[in-house]
Amino acid sequence: PQVCWLAPEQTAGKQKPYMYTQGQAVLNRSFFPGFDTPSVKCTYSATVKVPEGFTAVMSATSWEKQKDNTFVFKMSQPIPSYLIALAVGDIVSADVGPRSRVWAEPCLIEAAKKEYDGVIEEFLAVGEKLFGPYVWGRYDILFMPPSFPFGGMENPCLTFATPCLLAGDRSLVDVIIHEISHSWFGNLVTNATWGEFWLNEGFTMYAQRRISTEVYGSAYTCLEAATGRALLRQHMDNTGEDHPLNKLRVVIEPGLWGVNPDDTYNETPYEKGYCFVSYLAHLVGDQSKFDAFLQAYVNRFKFQSITADDTLGFFLEYFPELKEKGVDSLPGFEFDRWLNTPGWPPYLPDLSPGEQLMKPADELAELWAADGLNMEAIEAVDITAWRTYQLVYFLDQVLQKSPLPEGNVERLSKRYPKISKAQNAELRLRWCQIVLKNNLEAEYHKVKDFLHSQGKQKYTLPLYRAMWGGSESARALAMETFSATAPQLHVNVQNYVKKILGLEVAE
Ligand code: BES
Ligand code: ZN
Repeated sequence: PQVCWLAPEQTAGKQKPYMYTQGQAVLNRSFFPGFDTPSVKCTYSATVKVPEGFTAVMSATSWEKQKDNTFVFKMSQPIPSYLIALAVGDIVSADVGPRSRVWAEPCLIEAAKKEYDGVIEEFLAVGEKLFGPYVWGRYDILFMPPSFPFGGMENPCLTFATPCLLAGDRSLVDVIIHEISHSWFGNLVTNATWGEFWLNEGFTMYAQRRISTEVYGSAYTCLEAATGRALLRQHMDNTGEDHPLNKLRVVIEPGLWGVNPDDTYNETPYEKGYCFVSYLAHLVGDQSKFDAFLQAYVNRFKFQSITADDTLGFFLEYFPELKEKGVDSLPGFEFDRWLNTPGWPPYLPDLSPGEQLMKPADELAELWAADGLNMEAIEAVDITAWRTYQLVYFLDQVLQKSPLPEGNVERLSKRYPKISKAQNAELRLRWCQIVLKNNLEAEYHKVKDFLHSQGKQKYTLPLYRAMWGGSESARALAMETFSATAPQLHVNVQNYVKKILGLEVAE
């Protein structure tokens, strides 16, 4: 079951079946025999024969179609097993840059081309300027069927992405910048064990926000980082700060204190990891010096798998004056504490350049949380020009203050159809969370529709958690929605939902 086989109804076009693999973290052992650990890297080649009318794509540096519907792929750079990926379906492509094309089912290809035409190359070029050569040749994107469990998966040469990114306004492009950033952090320099997954994701979040700062400026990037910080807050509140998952270095082991590698996919390696890398940059104190360090780091460890000790050892070697000062053991900020103590990060990067965008959203959320609504003040705020992430930030504030006083959410819903009727997945997620936290039964159908429309893990689990923690009718909604959608969810996501709903999980 770890290789995903989709019936025609589970695709966007609903005409032909589809299959794809998702290797990370430990699923590829059911796809091919091999050393399924990120500590081993190798090249690969594959010969894939498909039925007439189907196309095969893989995470490979070269491919060719031979007679008899046979595709031959070669990856000429050594990669860890989790980055080998295959998809077969009714898939076509369109060029969007000198070394990039988008792939999708025919009914999505126009939307995919429109969303990304002419924008990918700039991200690659800025990445190369910051972190060194892009070694993978092409950078293509495959838009997956709606049940794909992730926003994006950085399969080399060919990122797999959720079709939710096709928002029509390029507003979710940060996910693509993230996957591009893995070209250096994760795919070139790789965590040797899933217990140090933050080496992949924390460095990638940092690289993503460096590219974003260069392209979109620091105000917008800090706003996006603030929404990330809110996710970390929610995650730690959900799990408890002291949970063993809330350390950067986790113990992968069955049992009470051990962690399943799949469970490392949570906000800690991403956002706490981002804080730690930002802390290292703060110790250096000069952005261009830290950028140069990152480039030297990639160059030093490219095509290798490493541990955090390698990373931090190289950092201290690269900045001998910091080593001299003993920055690895400053009280409260010890590197050892960063790695091995669960809980909130001891250092948070300064996001104040985003304040010009956050402050109006904070103030508006205050107004909506008040007992008697001051409609005059509310109507004076014009949100028509707000970007998606500014609305997301606003909604996260509203969610934090929820449940709001009786009647406020209904009025908010009517006042901002742009939010309550949004098609953008990030806005829909927040709106559904608000609907559930305020027990707004009149809009439960939106939760159901959203969960029927896609199967991304980071959207699905928070909504089931909210339903299960809610009223009787919210719980009924959870059960009803899950029995209808379970067959279309990725098997891992199915199992996580079952756990939330107290259903039995088959081993
Ligand atoms: N590599 C991850 C996805 C992943 C993690 C798959 C763990 C399986 C196990 C990918 O790069 C990722 O982080 N995607 C994020 C993007 C976001 C942080 C911008 C996602 O899917 O939400
Ligand atoms: Zn990632």
